[in-house]
Amino acid sequence: MDGLVEHRVGSSRVRVDPEAIQIEEVAEGSRPFRALYEHWERHQWSPFATDFSTDAATFAALDETTRAGLVLVFAHRFHAEFNVAALLAPFLLAAPDYEVQLLLATQVADEHRHIESVLRVYSDVFGVDGGIEAVKALADAQLDPVAATLYQALDGVVRALEASRDEDSFLKAVVAYHLIGEGSIGRANQNFVADQFDRIGSFPGLREAQRLAVRDEVRHIGIGVSYARRRLTRDGAYARALIDEIVEGFDALGHNLVEHATPDVVDRFVGAYGAAPATLWAEVLRQLHLRLRSIGISDVRGARTA
Ligand SMILES: [Fe+2]
Ligand SMILES: [Fe+2]
Repeated sequence: MDGLVEHRVGSSRVRVDPEAIQIEEVAEGSRPFRALYEHWERHQWSPFATDFSTDAATFAALDETTRAGLVLVFAHRFHAEFNVAALLAPFLLAAPDYEVQLLLATQVADEHRHIESVLRVYSDVFGVDGGIEAVKALADAQLDPVAATLYQALDGVVRALEASRDEDSFLKAVVAYHLIGEGSIGRANQNFVADQFDRIGSFPGLREAQRLAVRDEVRHIGIGVSYARRRLTRDGAYARALIDEIVEGFDALGHNLVEHATPDVVDRFVGAYGAAPATLWAEVLRQLHLRLRSIGISDVRGARTA
């Protein structure tokens, strides 16, 4: 993928994207939570400000298959933003202290803004009228078993916060949601989507809306990285075991999904992202390793995730 740079992580040099360096620099600072909040204050944007006129013309001129692929990308994006926005409520209630609570409050606002931005793409680029109900119905009809299973697993970890708001449940939810959902699946998806926009035509509005959302997402990942780092520093092996439990479960689930992806699901992913599930999965794992290194884990268990 373009834009990768050589970067020293721990004792080795790895290829990372610039956003990964940004996350790491914040997390390693003396006041990471304050720095993330100040970043949020400095980087406000409006989903109404993007000009989608060129994008609408490009979309209208695409052939039907390419158009369907692009709509599928946004169905995935809609589900991601919609689920994430709903799941933040239990996080907010379980925040272990004020500074984490403050950041989660900013994230609640961000994720709802992202939904609004996606709704604008549906109305102004795809020509879908009827607001969120119409978009949700359309996106639900396109949900594939791979995405559905991943959401279900991650949701389950976060939903545990509804019954127990202790710090260990909170850590596991942060690993599932901020490090895996946003930090690995989300980052991998954003990289493939950006390449795909460029491949199929001129989409300056989609690129701009994506750039703004990704800037927010990098900050959200920074919240998770900073919190998990703090727990590892405080609680050592005990926190490590909680993190490993979630990472290993996700690793096994992902491998299983890729291995058993049916030919029609493979075709749909190739049509939408220009890559098969196995290629996407390799990038998800690369991102996951970067996130784990950022929190201080470089000896990831489970040899399959090399
Ligand atoms: Fe988002
Ligand atoms: Fe996010």
